[in-house]
Amino acid sequence: MDVIQLLKKDHKMVQKMFKEFEALSGSRGAQKKSALVDQIREALTVHAQVEEELVYPAFQESRSMKDLVSEAKEEHQVAKYLLTGLEELQPDDEQYDARVKVLCEYVMHHVKEEEKEIFPQAQKRLSAKRLEALGEQVEERRNELMGEGEDKEEDEDTGMDDEAMNDEAEGEEGTEEMDEQENKPDRPRRRAA
Ligand SMILES: [Fe+2]
Ligand SMILES: [Fe+2]
Repeated sequence: MDVIQLLKKDHKMVQKMFKEFEALSGSRGAQKKSALVDQIREALTVHAQVEEELVYPAFQESRSMKDLVSEAKEEHQVAKYLLTGLEELQPDDEQYDARVKVLCEYVMHHVKEEEKEIFPQAQKRLSAKRLEALGEQVEERRNELMGEGEDKEEDEDTGMDDEAMNDEAEGEEGTEEMDEQENKPDRPRRRAA
């Protein structure tokens, strides 16, 4: 899939999530709302990052797109600011739905500019081959970023395990590597105690 198709698909997905939120707007489903907003936040964050890392620099190689892309980058900053503002509120706060709505309107404005102004330019300036290659890069990077959250949790666990490992090494028989493996199942219990 070429990069334009891929990004447009992302835009549609985010728009769908905002629509789902709109349907909940005014209701009391705090859990549903915050789950949905978490999804929206992840989708927007990953999408913005791949655009900034891979897509925008490629588009900016073309002089005629420099200003348009600079503006788009600024809009990303504003969207991030709005996302941060959302973290300060709880879904049952009075202003929550309104804040999501403003974020939605802002993101949709940005999406429109990309699709109506930036993408058509890119299709003119970049070869089909390049757009296809960029699509592949974006897909790869996105998979990496989506997996990163899970990796982080594992790393944190390992960090704690190291401490537990040292505790166990003291005063207990066997400090050989094999023992460390066998001791693993005990660690969560020690931590919880
Ligand atoms: Fe963007
Ligand atoms: Fe985009």
